[in-house]
Amino acid sequence: MRIVALLSTAVLALASLTAASQTSAPAKTLTVPRQLVAQTPPMGWNSWNFFAERVSDKDIRAAADQLVATGMKDAGYIYVNIDDAWQGQRDANGLLHSNAKFPDMKALADYVHSKGLKIGIYSGPGPKTCAGYEGSLDHEAQDAQLYAQWGIDYLKYDLCSFIPDVMETKAPNDKAAQMRLMVAAYAKMDKALKATGRPIVFSLCQYGWDAVWEWAPSVGGNLWRTTGDINPDWDRIYAIASQQAGLEKYASPGHWNDPDMLEVGNGKLTLEENRAHFSLWAMLAAPLLAGNDLPNMKPEIKAILTNRDVIAIDQDTLGKQGTRVYSEGEVDVWKRPLAGGAMAIAIINAGDSRYSTHPFHLSLDQLGLHGPQTGKDLWTGKPITLSNSQPLELARHDVLLVRIDAPK
Ligand code: GLA
Repeated sequence: MRIVALLSTAVLALASLTAASQTSAPAKTLTVPRQLVAQTPPMGWNSWNFFAERVSDKDIRAAADQLVATGMKDAGYIYVNIDDAWQGQRDANGLLHSNAKFPDMKALADYVHSKGLKIGIYSGPGPKTCAGYEGSLDHEAQDAQLYAQWGIDYLKYDLCSFIPDVMETKAPNDKAAQMRLMVAAYAKMDKALKATGRPIVFSLCQYGWDAVWEWAPSVGGNLWRTTGDINPDWDRIYAIASQQAGLEKYASPGHWNDPDMLEVGNGKLTLEENRAHFSLWAMLAAPLLAGNDLPNMKPEIKAILTNRDVIAIDQDTLGKQGTRVYSEGEVDVWKRPLAGGAMAIAIINAGDSRYSTHPFHLSLDQLGLHGPQTGKDLWTGKPITLSNSQPLELARHDVLLVRIDAPK
């Protein structure tokens, strides 16, 4: 019976092969559309800003538990991303193993998935990662398959040692050739990820080199870092935000400028600074990857990270990044168009004193608005009316963030 069945399958296959070769029409390939990822900026948590190299399996599980327990998951924080320092050594077959801090990656991924969350991982196109762990050079396909087997949903791919070890070695003093090598390295990993058939968010980390926003989507990038690293310091956060002005046209559903992970709740940032940082990232349609110590999160930090109104600005389905419309003294005014004709306005006092512009007067004209505008102050939750030339008081490094549903 079995042989007969096998034979008849073979005959059928032969018959269809013959039929195909007799017709002149090109053979059709069945293409399954790739599941769309990152249609709004990815939200989640990443280990680097708080743990750096100290991260372990236990910390990732605790982060997943806390995303659920704190309500952050319900607010949209879905990805639990392991950054650098999970990697061990490759075996004789080139298969990468995790290090002793991560005894079983598949079990860890299963645990994160069991909480209704997704899991991310980190590597790079060079021989080593930024912290000196094993990179993916010459093992791209093998690593991508491994991630897919583990059930990984997100890859952050960090350039680092690819610069000295490949770009500068293979193309010394030839900047253009170096950039081509870099783009090709990202395209190679994109191909490897796609070959797994698993929807995996692809996060490019190469610090904004070679106007990455212009070519990242062509190598499958869902998000791309636009600057060097963030740290929990207002001047750094403000400098990074300022560098995003002008990049708004490159953001759209599935493709986001990435001004780096959040520092909300880290270091010595004041409440105002944490609030302004989060507001700016929302105006920028930036990925919202918290980077704080979740098990020890203070209530006021949780309140910032889970402010639904602010998250709704970030996650707005129109997918248009905000623009810095004008600055007056040390006060910046940003606006972001939202779905349904709504608008968000953020006024940031980057100055070191209250009334930094003695005092600041809002210009609705410059925002293209006419007459008083009624909206919601997203940090007090109360209605607010903005009018032209209205004097505004903002504390040092604080923000006024307003949503106007029907701007005139
Ligand atoms: C680079 C990246 C950081 C982090 C570290 C890890 O500096 O920009 O976000 O991933 O590497 O080593």
